[in-house]
Amino acid sequence: VTRAVVIGHGHYLPERVVENEAFTQTLDTSDEWIKSRSGIERRHFAAEGEMTSHLAIKAARAALETAGVGADTLDAIIVATSTPDLTFPSVATMVQDGIDAGGAFAFDVQAVCAGFVYALGNASALIAAGQARRVMVIGAETFSRIMDWTDRSTCVLFGDGAGAIILDAQSGNGTSDDRGVLSVDLHSDGKLRDLLYVDGGVGTTGTAGYLRMQGNQVFRHAVEKLADTANTALSRAGLGAGDVDWVVPHQANIRIIQGTAKKLGLSMDNVIVTVQDHGNTSAASIPLALSVGAADGRIKKGDLIVTEAIGGGLAWGAVVLRW
Ligand code: ACO
Repeated sequence: VTRAVVIGHGHYLPERVVENEAFTQTLDTSDEWIKSRSGIERRHFAAEGEMTSHLAIKAARAALETAGVGADTLDAIIVATSTPDLTFPSVATMVQDGIDAGGAFAFDVQAVCAGFVYALGNASALIAAGQARRVMVIGAETFSRIMDWTDRSTCVLFGDGAGAIILDAQSGNGTSDDRGVLSVDLHSDGKLRDLLYVDGGVGTTGTAGYLRMQGNQVFRHAVEKLADTANTALSRAGLGAGDVDWVVPHQANIRIIQGTAKKLGLSMDNVIVTVQDHGNTSAASIPLALSVGAADGRIKKGDLIVTEAIGGGLAWGAVVLRW
């Protein structure tokens, strides 16, 4: 069988770091509330004029560097984002130009916080089908651009950033010992769209709009759906939670991350957590966490990883891969 194997990773975070305390100047909130309810301590915000594509290009260059391959060897670039620079063209085509990947076709995937899991599943399918041999998958967001800064229940939770991985077609023997993507499980429920959406767009205000979220309602769905999808993906790969070296979850809220790990029967020692430093970077959070975990030596070649995410749609899913 042909597997999509990770050969490189990288990330980029904007220079500007904003601590929780900064929000107390304009909002009735506190470091204590934000930290205890979400686990978030700080986040990065893009500079004026710094766009999602700029973050994505920097993460892409870092991934090419760790892979030791040239951009001209890429067959495809997929960017997961809900905060593109423009309505169109895609951020992925901007990355293609920015890194000089003339031989790659490029497109965006929009599944909000589940975007990276969706993009990874699609990249793996392209490789398995023989339509591409080397694919760059990026999650990149500037959620600071869709924040209502007067809404304390949302604006303290999100951050900006980008992460990237490069997948290569490699032959495996079809067992769960293979490196690469081993299984994918994706779900959507459009009936739940009112729980989390952006109130603008071409069909409404003609502007980008602001994020609206019923956080406690999303929370209620999160732990159960995330544990279910992770378990489904694991069993599809012929594996169980006991085989997992690292859970790399979407980083929205430490309580969701802890609740999901507990439901899976896993210790927090097996979870990569970056939410304290990055906030919720939507589709960027998983590739950021993968890149941070690989760069600091926790994630090693051969480790079994399950990634899981849920977000607007609702859309959710999990991918099991061996690093
Ligand atoms: N500072 C102080 N108080 C606040 C703040 C704040 N920043 N924000 C809200 N509060 C208040 C509320 O007004 C409420 O007050 P009330 O009881 O007087 O009405 C109280 O705190 C409790 O609010 P809840 O929303 O019930 O708090 P909860 O414990 O649920 O935590 C949170 C809120 C952090 C948003 C949590 O629900 C959460 O993380 N939800 C999931 C978010 C998520 O995973 N989203 C999906 C991914 S994002 C994406 O796809 C784009």
